[in-house]
Amino acid sequence: MTPIDGLALAREFGTPLHVIDREALLQNARTLKQAFERGYAPTEVYVSFKTNPVPQVLGLLYAEGIGAEVVSAFELWLAGELGIPTARTVVNGPGKRPEFIDRCAATGVRLFNVDSLGEVDRVGEAAARHGRELRLGCRVRPTRGWKNQFGLEPAQVLVAASRIRQHPLLRFEALQVQVGSNLADARSYVEAIRDLAALASQLRREAGVTLSTLDLGGGFGVPSVERMTRWEAAYSFLIPGETPHFLRTPPVQPIDAVAGIIGEALRKEFSAHSLPLPTLVVEPGRALLGEAQTLLIEVLDVKTFEGSTYAITTCGPSTGARPLLGERHPISLLGEPRARRRRYTLAGPLCTPADVFAEGVELPELKVGDVLAIAGAGAYFLSYESAWAFPRSAVVMVDAQGEARLIRRPESFEEMVARDLPGRSKP
Ligand SMILES: Cc1ncc(COP(=O)(O)O)c(C=O)c1O
Repeated sequence: MTPIDGLALAREFGTPLHVIDREALLQNARTLKQAFERGYAPTEVYVSFKTNPVPQVLGLLYAEGIGAEVVSAFELWLAGELGIPTARTVVNGPGKRPEFIDRCAATGVRLFNVDSLGEVDRVGEAAARHGRELRLGCRVRPTRGWKNQFGLEPAQVLVAASRIRQHPLLRFEALQVQVGSNLADARSYVEAIRDLAALASQLRREAGVTLSTLDLGGGFGVPSVERMTRWEAAYSFLIPGETPHFLRTPPVQPIDAVAGIIGEALRKEFSAHSLPLPTLVVEPGRALLGEAQTLLIEVLDVKTFEGSTYAITTCGPSTGARPLLGERHPISLLGEPRARRRRYTLAGPLCTPADVFAEGVELPELKVGDVLAIAGAGAYFLSYESAWAFPRSAVVMVDAQGEARLIRRPESFEEMVARDLPGRSKP
C-alpha cells in the first residue's frame, strides 16, 4: 500500500474526498485474477461497473485484462467509450429497457444474462431485428440463501430453454447466479455449483442443451469491511458500542483459498454429471475495488446531549456514504495521536435524522477541523452518491510515488442545476 498523506490531500482538495490507491487497486486486480486462473481454467474476470463507476478506475482494470459487467445502457455506453470490446462485456440486470436490449443485440456481447421468461422473447426479437447471434445465459434464483427479485426459478430455466430454441439467433450458453455480498468464505458458491451442475445436467437430458459457461457473479468479501447482520444492526441500535462477537460476521477467507475451493467444486460437480467443464465467469465488484479506496471526511461540529456526543461531518449516508448503514468500516482520526478517547455518534451534514452512520464509535477526542479516514470505501460509496443539498465530491488517484491526481473534480453548484430549464417565477 502506498503511504498516503490524507491530511495534505484534505487540505489541498477539500472533503469529502475519495482517495484511490492506484497500486493497491492494481495489486487487488492481479491477486484476484491470478487466484481464479490458478484455481480453475478457463476463467474470465469482469468488473461489476455499478460498484464504482469512475471511468479511470474501470479503464485501469481493463488494462489488467478485466472485462466489463454492465447492467444498463449507460454502463454499456461507458464500456464502449473506454475501448472495452463488446466481446469482453457481460450483461446483467432485471427489467432491462428496450433500448438497452436493442444496443446489446446490435453489437453482440460476450454473454447476455436474461432475468425472466418474458425477456427471452424481447431479446430474441431484438436479435432477429439486427440479424445477429446473441449468446445467452439465464440468471438463476438460488434455491437457498440470497433470495430476491432476480432471476428465474430452476424449473423456469427449463421453460426458458424451449423458448430460446424458438428464436433462431439465440444461443443458450450459460447459467448465472449471484449468491450474496461480502461473503466470508466459499460455502455459498459450493452450494450454488452443486445446484447449477444438477440443473445443467437436467437441461442436457430434458432440453438437449449443453452449456459452455458458468457465471458465478460477484459477492467475494474483503477483510476490512464487516457486513452487519440484521441481529447486529438491531443490537447496536439498542445498545451503542461494541457488539458481542457472536453477533458479528466471521473473518474473510483469502481470495486464493476461495478461488481454489470454487475450482475444485466445479471440477467435482460437473464431472459427477459427466458434463464438459464449463468456462468460469466471475463478476467481482467489492473484492477488486473495496479496499483500494478511502473516504476522507472532516469534522464540522461536535456536540454533547444527555451523555451522547455527536460529531457532524462533511459526508454521511445520504450524501455518499450509504454503505455505512449496513457495513462496519475502520474509521480513524488522521494526525498526531491523542491521549483522551470518547464514544461518538457520527453523522453527515444533511438536515435529516437519517444521516447518522455510526453509533458508539470509540475515537480520539475530536475537534472541529479534524479529518477522519473511512477505509475500504471503494465499493458502492460513489455509486450511491447523491447531490442532495450538497455537490458531489472529488476523486483523486494516488500513484506509487504518493503523487495525487484529480480524476473527478468536485461538482459545482451550476452543474447541480445544469439540467433544469431556465425560467423565473413572476412576483
Ligand atoms: C449480477 C451481479 N454481478 C456482480 C455483482 C458484484 O458484486 P460484489 O460487489 O459483491 O462482488 C453484483 C452485485 O450485487 C451483481 O448483482
